[in-house]
Amino acid sequence: MKQKLGVLGGGYVGLAVAVGFAERGFPVVLVESSKARFKALTQGSFFSSEGDLVQAFEKVKEDGMIHITSRVEDIQDISYLFVCVGTPEGDQGETDLSYLWAAIEQCSPYLREEACFIIKSTVPVGTGDQVQAWFDKQGKAVQVLSYPEFLREGKTLEDFRQPSRIVIGGDVNHPRVMELRQLLAEYSLPLLLTSRRDAEMIKYAANAFLATKISFINQMAQLCETLGTDIQTVAKGIGMDPRIGQAFLAAGIGYGGPCLPKDVASLMEQGRKQDLEMPILAAVARVNHDQRRWVRNQLRKQWGQLKGHVLAIWGVTFKGGSEDVRESPAVWVLEDLLKEGVHLQLYDPYGLESLKELWESRGVLESYAGQVQWAKTCWDSLEHVEGLVILTDWQEFKEVDLHRLKTVLPSSLIIDGRNLFYPSMMKQLGFKYISVGRKV
Ligand code: UGA
Repeated sequence: MKQKLGVLGGGYVGLAVAVGFAERGFPVVLVESSKARFKALTQGSFFSSEGDLVQAFEKVKEDGMIHITSRVEDIQDISYLFVCVGTPEGDQGETDLSYLWAAIEQCSPYLREEACFIIKSTVPVGTGDQVQAWFDKQGKAVQVLSYPEFLREGKTLEDFRQPSRIVIGGDVNHPRVMELRQLLAEYSLPLLLTSRRDAEMIKYAANAFLATKISFINQMAQLCETLGTDIQTVAKGIGMDPRIGQAFLAAGIGYGGPCLPKDVASLMEQGRKQDLEMPILAAVARVNHDQRRWVRNQLRKQWGQLKGHVLAIWGVTFKGGSEDVRESPAVWVLEDLLKEGVHLQLYDPYGLESLKELWESRGVLESYAGQVQWAKTCWDSLEHVEGLVILTDWQEFKEVDLHRLKTVLPSSLIIDGRNLFYPSMMKQLGFKYISVGRKV
């Protein structure tokens, strides 16, 4: 039997880490302190769009490889604790570390001497050092490591099984770190050992660079629209250079989700604290914000005033493959259209429940109740509408029967914020098809 591991936090990252290690034969104690999430984990009602993860979770549970608990005391006999708590954005763009510090204080009495406290959450540079100093002050011989996670929502388990790289920051000569290194070496994964601060910085710089690629291509898309060139072809052409690569060059309504926006903001805030302005990141965030107006601008070109018009909306989550609506550019667009007085018939394969919860908590439903309808299928959303707006790149939309769509959408107007179809084909089918950075 391999040694027992602990995982703190049962969100996307924590669950993928717990399941990923459990299926490699490590018994895992998964600690989840939120009552609602604990209930969801034990009853199996969570992350409906993460099919692989849910299936693998059920399997390791059945095999008795994972113990889900709300009691932090249950970590007493483990040597490695992977900390996967949320680090959301605070009011000023700073990172809110309250969950991390609460976790440290709760765990500390139960962590055995020589245990490794491994921070997987995204935390500002220097946080790991502060946590180490805290343990040192308590006289506790705990080793703090930074082991940032690079997995994507919707593909969490796949990314955990086959990561592009594993970055571990800490005292590389410490026996526990060498043991962890050996434990991972068995899986021949690309490994980079470095300092805690470098590891923390790598995580931020990676996400900020991905955000930069997206804002760059969206800025090019804006220019393509005015010059009559095609962003899809341009992206393909530049991406053929291996120094640039094809990934993250899909133009659209901008990036969102719980990571990219907050990490760009946090990095700028970390720069500000050092009196360093970061004009590239400021521009990345600004282009991203402005890009969300693309839908409204296109509709204005069609109709002038938007008040009273009725639209079908496909997609509310921040990207296809995830039910997450946090910082979703689609949600921003929807709220923008509601303010303009547009009536919306919404469809999303997995995101409607999360959107209802979000809007209830923000009072949006109360203010715009008469303007919103929820559809059970993409076809239901199309009844009596004047056009269709696509905001998320779900596979279901890419595979839709376009001939049927043409018959049930009398106006033929499609505003595609995710460039899912070929403009020439859509024109041939008789649609009035408007997409990002491409010829109409
Ligand atoms: C991102 C990173 O990709 C992961 O490596 C990282 O581990 C994760 O954040 C994190 O920090 O936890 P994720 O937030 O799941 O992963 O989403 P992405 O797949 O990166 O997409 C982010 C946003 O960019 C989405 O709104 C997506 O629609 C948009 N996007 C992506 C584009 O607009 N164009 C593209 O070409 C690619």
